[in-house]
Amino acid sequence: MEPKCSNLWCVLVFASLMATLSSGSLSAKYYASTCPKLLSIVRSEVVKAVDKEYRMGASLLRLHFHDCFVNGCDASVLLDDTSNFTGEKTAIPNKDSLRGFEVIDSIKTLVEAACPSVVSCADILSLAARDSVVALGGPSWVVGLGRRDSTTASFDNANNDLPSPFLDLPDLISAFSNKGFDTKELVALSGSHTIGQARCSMFRVRAHNETTTIDPDFAASLRTNCPFSGDDQNLSPLDLKTQSLFDNAYFKNLVQNKGLLHSDQALFTNSSADSHVSSYISHPKAFFSDFAAAMVKMSNLSPLTGSDGQIRSDCRKIN
Ligand code: HEM
Ligand SMILES: *[C@@H]1O[C@H](CO)[C@@H](O)[C@H](O)[C@H]1NC(C)=O
Ligand SMILES: *[C@@H]1O[C@H](CO)[C@@H](O)[C@H](O)[C@H]1NC(C)=O
Ligand SMILES: *[C@@H]1O[C@H](CO)[C@@H](O)[C@H](O)[C@H]1NC(C)=O
Repeated sequence: MEPKCSNLWCVLVFASLMATLSSGSLSAKYYASTCPKLLSIVRSEVVKAVDKEYRMGASLLRLHFHDCFVNGCDASVLLDDTSNFTGEKTAIPNKDSLRGFEVIDSIKTLVEAACPSVVSCADILSLAARDSVVALGGPSWVVGLGRRDSTTASFDNANNDLPSPFLDLPDLISAFSNKGFDTKELVALSGSHTIGQARCSMFRVRAHNETTTIDPDFAASLRTNCPFSGDDQNLSPLDLKTQSLFDNAYFKNLVQNKGLLHSDQALFTNSSADSHVSSYISHPKAFFSDFAAAMVKMSNLSPLTGSDGQIRSDCRKIN
């Protein structure tokens, strides 16, 4: 049976049902007695950070994705490299790209002051991603809690399991199906690119390739900020229409051949994904409810629970 959501309440109820049904031992009330202020601390710090710089909301959402797709949502992405430990921060998809670590650190400091040694960094990251989407006008969902933090990280899995922006649709489909997501969920989750920015090095080939599927005026405007060589770190919005608003404009860009990354445009190429893109243009509420449900599913990817892992006291270091 396919539940149909036509209003925000239904979205919330459905997402919460999903959280209860599919999260194993995670529970929304996990810290209700041990850290009752947790949700309000995370929410107010995220709102503050997003007010200061809207892009931080995008960066925190992406951090959670890059955590969950690599050995599950275990905060492995937050571990710093040391002389005898190589984490995930220098893997290709993450290096010179991931941001938001300082915001997680300051949330963790406040949470430790309110309730020492009980709340995991992985749970903080999951809440921060949800609160970021809400702060930018997107849907809400109920976050199951009780994840624990890893004592390991995997540089190789970060390189292998995170999708490259140069992939075509079949490879995007398999990268997501490896984590249990179907094509529709791939399209819904890619809708994250309605917020935030990407570096020139990620879209240069596309902006300079005259034969690829790209709107010529859009390509010309990208080239002014992204020359054939150099300026690798120059930024362009992933959604040129409304980069600070979580809406469905990303999909409208795709049908106009104005996707920024090759992997964005690959979702609308006379293929099995087109109908999902079109449907999220005419049914923005369906995009919100599918996105919320897919985020719940992503945030439930193999968490450490029970006595596995640890509660890190510093999110950047193993205890
Ligand atoms: C479908 C496969 C995906 C690919 C190939 C991809 C690739 C990328 C790339 C290359 C960037 C720009 C990074 C940079 O230039 O520094 C980016 C940014 C971003 N991605 Fe994705 N991504 C994908 C899916 C997702 C998913 C599933 C999410 C979240 C659930 C997500 C959230 C974001 C956000 C919010 C940004 C902007 C970050 C910021 O401004 O700091 N992406 N992505
Ligand atoms: C790395 O070195 C530190 C300090 O010398 C030590 O405490 C730690 O156990 C080492 N970690 C690993 C993973 O070997
Ligand atoms: C340019 O785009 C065409 C058509 O999509 C593709 O076949 C070709 O490989 C691309 N060239 C480069 C340098 O990526
Ligand atoms: C999709 O098909 C139409 C009609 O056959 C064609 O004009 C268009 O170039 C195709 N687009 C892509 C991205 O292949």
